[in-house]
Parts: sequence; C-alpha cells; structure tokens
Amino acid sequence: MYFIILFVSLFISSFAAECPKFKTQSAFDVTKYGGLWYEIERSDIIFELGSRCVNATYTLNPNGTVDVFNQEINLMGEYTSIHGTATVKDPKVPAAFVVQFNSGIKGDYNVISTDYINYSLVYACESILGLKVEFIWILSREKTLSDSIINELQTILKNFGADISQLKPTVQKNC
Ligand SMILES: *[C@@H]1O[C@H](CO)[C@@H](O)[C@H](O)[C@H]1NC(C)=O
Ligand SMILES: *[C@@H]1O[C@H](CO)[C@@H](O)[C@H](O)[C@H]1NC(C)=O
Ligand SMILES: *[C@@H]1O[C@H](CO)[C@@H](O)[C@H](O)[C@H]1NC(C)=O
Repeated sequence: MYFIILFVSLFISSFAAECPKFKTQSAFDVTKYGGLWYEIERSDIIFELGSRCVNATYTLNPNGTVDVFNQEINLMGEYTSIHGTATVKDPKVPAAFVVQFNSGIKGDYNVISTDYINYSLVYACESILGLKVEFIWILSREKTLSDSIINELQTILKNFGADISQLKPTVQKNC
C-alpha cells in the first residue's frame, strides 16, 4: 500500500513538504452524520481513479464504530462497492477517524467541517519519507452542491495549506 501511495505521490504532489496542520470539527455528532453522502469533488487518488457516481453510506454500529459502505461505477464502467469500519482514534477528537476496509486498505478520515444536512469536508494526509499525499473529499447530501459552499470549503482547505489543485469534480450524472 505504502509503495503504491509513494509511487502515485510522485505524480500528484511533486516532492512537496510535510502534511499541513489542520483541525477537525470540534463539536461532532456522529449520529447526525450518518446516512447517505454523494461525492462531489475529490483529490486524484489511486483507488478511486476514473470512478464516478460515488456515494458513501455511514451507519452507526451498536459498539460506537461506524459502518462504511462505499459504492461507485469504476473506470471499466462496472458497479463496485467496499465495506469498512470507521473508529474514532481519540474520544477527545470526535471527528477524526481511522477507516479499516475489508479489502485491507486503511486510512484516516477527518471531518474538517460539516453541517450534516448539506455538505461535509473530509481530509487526510500522509507523510511518507518526506513526501506528502493528501486525500480530500467534498461530500453532499444531494448529487450536487452549490458553488458557494464548494468555494467556502476550498477556502478552508487553502487556509490550512492543503493543495486544492488536485481537486476534481466527481461525475454524478447518468448513474
Ligand atoms: C464494532 O462492531 C462492528 C459491527 O458489528 C464490527 O465490525 C467491529 O469489528 C466492532 N469493533 C469493535 C472495536 O468492537
Ligand atoms: C450509490 O451509488 C451506486 C453506484 O454508483 C448506485 O448504484 C446507487 O444507486 C447510488 N445510491 C443512491 C441512493 O443514489
Ligand atoms: C441545506 O439543506 C437544506 C435541507 O435540504 C436546504 O433547505 C438548504 O437550502 C440547504 N442550504 C444550503 C446553503 O444549500
């Protein structure tokens, strides 16, 4: 996994520096966060390359973890889905999760900002041998999101030093 990320990072982050410091949403209600989210924009990351019609369903498990169910149409035009479990890393930081997917892939999932009913901004960054690899997702409860909200979320990203040049809209048409 790390080797794949390292390889991709050569293309997407051009030997950039360390991960920026960022804050997750301090008051976070995981129950309100549950349900269906559509992917509106994402950074170009290897395991989602070329995919469209991407959505995620989050369901609170009885033990406090969150069931993650991601669906998409992949590069080959085929429906695929993946299951995982998100766990809060530190109860004092309730919007910072680590997601363990059944496939073995594992990654951070930090909710930077959400109003639960329209948008969510999710960010993660890994620094590997001095190279940073950023993961950015802009999610919406609908298949679209207003430009003003997208701009606001991009401004938040820029302000803490994330590289928004890698952000690309996710196709949510003809799904
Ligand atoms: C919590 O429950 C979920 C679903 O029942 C399970 O997949 C997961 O392994 C459990 N996690 C812990 C830490 O108990
Ligand atoms: C979620 O995405 C999958 C794959 O694109 C699609 O089949 C499904 O209809 C979507 N769900 C909703 C509620 O839009
Ligand atoms: C947020 O979602 C609610 C409920 O769907 C909607 O009424 C409201 O207009 C949305 N707000 C923005 C800023 O899009």
